[in-house]
Amino acid sequence: MLSEKLLLKLNDQVNFEFYSSYTYLSMAAYAESIDLSGFANFFRVQAQEELFHAMKLYDYIFQKNGVVKLSEIPKPFSDYTSITHLFEEGYKHEQLVTKKIYEITDIALEEKEHATMSLLKWFIDEQVEEENNFLTILKKVKRFEGNSTNIYMLDEELAKRIFTPPTTTA
Ligand code: FEO
Repeated sequence: MLSEKLLLKLNDQVNFEFYSSYTYLSMAAYAESIDLSGFANFFRVQAQEELFHAMKLYDYIFQKNGVVKLSEIPKPFSDYTSITHLFEEGYKHEQLVTKKIYEITDIALEEKEHATMSLLKWFIDEQVEEENNFLTILKKVKRFEGNSTNIYMLDEELAKRIFTPPTTTA
């Protein structure tokens, strides 16, 4: 059984993961609009990852006899100005996600809610990967600024990204 406080935070995180998905879809649309379909693919896959995160939390809430309460998803930002801008914002966004996951973990720790801590451990590990993905590409696109050959090569590389849902549920 989850406390009201924890349930509220987990529900907020479900909403935030859906918002994250929407945000990355907005970034995909910008990349598509400037004919970088490989970058667009990267963000489309990222949007799918975020849906997976949302549903992982959604399922967990029900497993713990809680009820999911969906709320409005805010309009995502869409006035991007460059590929670098996308990755700067994406990296910032992932840092914010990490902060939110840590906040929920602090509550779970306080309440000695071990099952929720175990679930959040998965998210904590996932965030290391998510932040690193964005930072790695951000550093590349900054270095490649003004070099369209390198940007097109990176576009081809990112076109290969596919969504593979993790098989483990823990
Ligand atoms: Fe669901 Fe990118 O964190």
